[in-house]
Amino acid sequence: MIKIDNNKLLFHLQGKETSYVMQVLDGGYLAHLYYGKRVNEYNGSNKIIYMDRGFAPNPTSEDRTFSLDTIPQEYQAFGNGDFRIPAYQVKLENGSRITDLRYVGHNVYQGKKGLEGLPATYINEDHECETLEIYLEDQLIGLKVTLNYSLFTELDVITRSVKFSNEGQENLQLLRALSMSVDFRESDFEMITLYGAHNNEKNFERRPIVSGIQMVDSARGASSPHQAPFVALIRKETNEDCGEVYAFNLVYSGNFTAQVQVDQYKNTRVSMGINPFDFSWLLNPNDSFQTPEVVMVYSDKGLGGMSRKYHQLYLNNLCRGEFKYKTRPILINNWEATYFDFDEDKILEIAEEGQKLGMELFVLDDGWFGKRDDDNTSLGDWIVDKRKLPNGLEALAQKIVDMGIEFGLWFEPEMVSVDSDLYRAHPDWCIHVPNRPYTFGRNQLVLDLSRQDVCDYIVDSVSKILEAAPITYVKWDMNRHITDTGSALLPANQQEETSHRYMLGLYDVMERLTTKFPNILFESCSSGGGRFDPGMLYYMPQTWTSDNTDAICRTKIQYGTSLVYPPVTMGCHVSTVPNHQVGRMTPLETRGNVAMAGNFGYELDLTKLTDEEKEIVKAQIEEYKQIRELVQFGDLYRIFNPFEGNESAWNIVSKDQEEMVATYVKVLSLPGAPLRTIKFKGLNPEFKYMNLETEEVFGGDELMNVGLTIPRVKQDFHSMKWKFKRVK
Ligand code: DGJ
Repeated sequence: MIKIDNNKLLFHLQGKETSYVMQVLDGGYLAHLYYGKRVNEYNGSNKIIYMDRGFAPNPTSEDRTFSLDTIPQEYQAFGNGDFRIPAYQVKLENGSRITDLRYVGHNVYQGKKGLEGLPATYINEDHECETLEIYLEDQLIGLKVTLNYSLFTELDVITRSVKFSNEGQENLQLLRALSMSVDFRESDFEMITLYGAHNNEKNFERRPIVSGIQMVDSARGASSPHQAPFVALIRKETNEDCGEVYAFNLVYSGNFTAQVQVDQYKNTRVSMGINPFDFSWLLNPNDSFQTPEVVMVYSDKGLGGMSRKYHQLYLNNLCRGEFKYKTRPILINNWEATYFDFDEDKILEIAEEGQKLGMELFVLDDGWFGKRDDDNTSLGDWIVDKRKLPNGLEALAQKIVDMGIEFGLWFEPEMVSVDSDLYRAHPDWCIHVPNRPYTFGRNQLVLDLSRQDVCDYIVDSVSKILEAAPITYVKWDMNRHITDTGSALLPANQQEETSHRYMLGLYDVMERLTTKFPNILFESCSSGGGRFDPGMLYYMPQTWTSDNTDAICRTKIQYGTSLVYPPVTMGCHVSTVPNHQVGRMTPLETRGNVAMAGNFGYELDLTKLTDEEKEIVKAQIEEYKQIRELVQFGDLYRIFNPFEGNESAWNIVSKDQEEMVATYVKVLSLPGAPLRTIKFKGLNPEFKYMNLETEEVFGGDELMNVGLTIPRVKQDFHSMKWKFKRVK
């Protein structure tokens, strides 16, 4: 609940296990007092000590002990004595960048409102959440700032966002508008971030924090595979199962910053939001600007506890639509099977084989439109290529549906090739700088989604295809980052709005299409997991985790991704060997076991499988169908961390703790390796569980505390899986 002491102007957001406290100080400054493990009551035991430290600047000449440079605050300004990273900065018509926000009021209500034009966590029922709005104002210029705090009490999550409103007479320009900032009065933390690259997303990185600023960000026009919009502060002793974690995840798919600053007195400021680099926003009188939302999770149960809070929230209160709680189809995608080189017969052969093996959805990937024989042409021309599919898309889709499986289709709607009818008709629609040569990526250009006409074209052209054929799944790809940033339609003083306007345009397009086609399952993709973020999950409830389908690489990529995102959101496919990305030969069983950690599918030429391989695939599909509900909607526990050694393991437990599936993957078979036991997690210690393969029965406590001996198998890349069910 949100407790407010109106006399002291003290606000206590009290979740199931978390407390977050702030107070209005004399002068109307909003101070941050506490964030961490829940307390029943907050009575101010951790008093702020006011002292004249280092001749720090003071807002009044009467009190040299009051300085914003040393006081923990909620939303910090620039130029008023706090020399640390500001949360926002506004430029006035006279060129001044100084503003002065003071508390003017607050409001609390049951529930949570949506954020205009932006993805955000939402409530299913009012009781899930309470929201506190704190109003700050710069009375000189009429700038009003609303700090939004929503508390998901049971899920124990706090979200923050900020709204700027110009209620004055002059034009203001936002130079920086972060979504949140938290001041900790200590620096005894380490920091976790997720870095990566194409084919190598979401690497787990843990480092001590030091004086000064440490930052991860993106200025690529997408959240990107390079750094995720995620940062966690943890204690030195924190591990997977114990210890404190403060985590922050931005619900945004564009340029972001996440900064951790340790100041001269070892206070730590964490801030996150839209990247202020190459950003500004004109705020005319009566205009407002809404920042994206940050999802903040505190856990004292280690990284596992943090992940499960994110997973629960994202399943219940971020993903939307018909597929939210539906188990997802096992798909077969033709990309790694054929790349651009296919015709109708080939597609039908693969689909037919998929259907025979038990797959439920065929996905036709890149290459079906325009004259796309390679990646140099045709993006933007969403018209079927009759050379490859002479009977058209509709007939192909119908034939596949008639086989008894669904049909899905790939698009890359945000892009245009120079060699396309779309570009020839509208050369001005791409993001570019007049009179300068283009910068290419995969030989393609990015459409300017800050423009309404471009967004309308995308909605129309994609809709036409989706309306014409029996399509029940769409893969929405995005394969290059944005350069030459600027929009032909914006005036000079608003050019730096382009990147955020692009995101607003993209979100609008996705909102329109997903609303118009509620029965279509959308999967987002950006050369794999290049835009795997909560912003995308709001519109599309699953994401292609990585173009790297090698089972061993995937243990790391999926581990990193699972830190924040639930298994059902992670597209995981079995592909051929030698693996196309790294050349590794791994057993089909291991490829299956690793892909079964998420949203399962295949991506290889099924017609080339041997009979023996087909039998294995068939068995995998049957098995996944049995465990699918559990994997997709159960609680994930990570056991061995692949970033730390030669092994990786995890188990997933059903919400009612009646069922469990566990997977173990070994990289190299090593002669001196210890004989290990695997201790499962999250079971009910009072329950008895039967190993469904051996029919042995063990107590939940024994499986968790004593563990199971891992059989010794002399084979590289070996893996195994255990399934347990409660017996009474
Ligand atoms: C990148 C995606 O990640 C792949 O799965 C595939 O769809 C290609 N694009 C197609 O160009």
